[in-house]
Amino acid sequence: MSENIIWHDASVTKTERRKQNNHNSFVLWFTGLSASGKSTVANAVARKLFDANIRSYVLDGDNVRHGLNRGLGFSEEDRKENIRRIGEVAKLFVDSGTIVLTAFISPFQEDRKTVRDLLEADEFIEVFVHCPLEECEKRDPKGLYEKARNGEIKQFTGIDSPYEEPVNPEITLHTHVYTADTCAEQLLQYLRDKQYI
Ligand code: PPS
Repeated sequence: MSENIIWHDASVTKTERRKQNNHNSFVLWFTGLSASGKSTVANAVARKLFDANIRSYVLDGDNVRHGLNRGLGFSEEDRKENIRRIGEVAKLFVDSGTIVLTAFISPFQEDRKTVRDLLEADEFIEVFVHCPLEECEKRDPKGLYEKARNGEIKQFTGIDSPYEEPVNPEITLHTHVYTADTCAEQLLQYLRDKQYI
């Protein structure tokens, strides 16, 4: 931490922003294997929230790695830094009164816990996008599993890099059983039941 850096309180509070938006703000933290459907479901939820006049934004692994996190690779250390930065960005979104949906593999339990601890207890909802590895590999929309099996990509999650399943996620979505739209509805129903929205 640098010296001589002093925290400034904002003139508009999170509570005021939420009140103006007329809804709560929190993180929907999607985690799951590559091709499990994280981005697809997150975007389906964001569309439905938008149509209901609720402000949200999707932060997506591939996209963020083009910009903010360009330069980070897939070693354990880089993935940790990737998730740490996203956690901090997600916190800013929550502070701005926005619901933020993050779609990152986020394979390590410890890193997800770090983000959870960064936020208030009711601001972090872990969404486990569960899809068996065989099914993800069958989908292989970007051809990455094939490359990983051929040894063209190293440290690929599920192949030669671990994925630690959430121990106690707030909700689990089964994308090999239900359509993306149904999974999105299941999540929205959870949010309504718990009076998040
Ligand atoms: S992580 O583990 O949370 O830091 O990963 P993330 O930032 O979500 O990036 C995952 C996307 O990067 C592509 N990709 C890889 N994924 C896993 N392992 C390796 N080695 C790898 N190399 C590239 C892949 O397209 C992931 O996108 P999704 O949307 O998850 O399929």
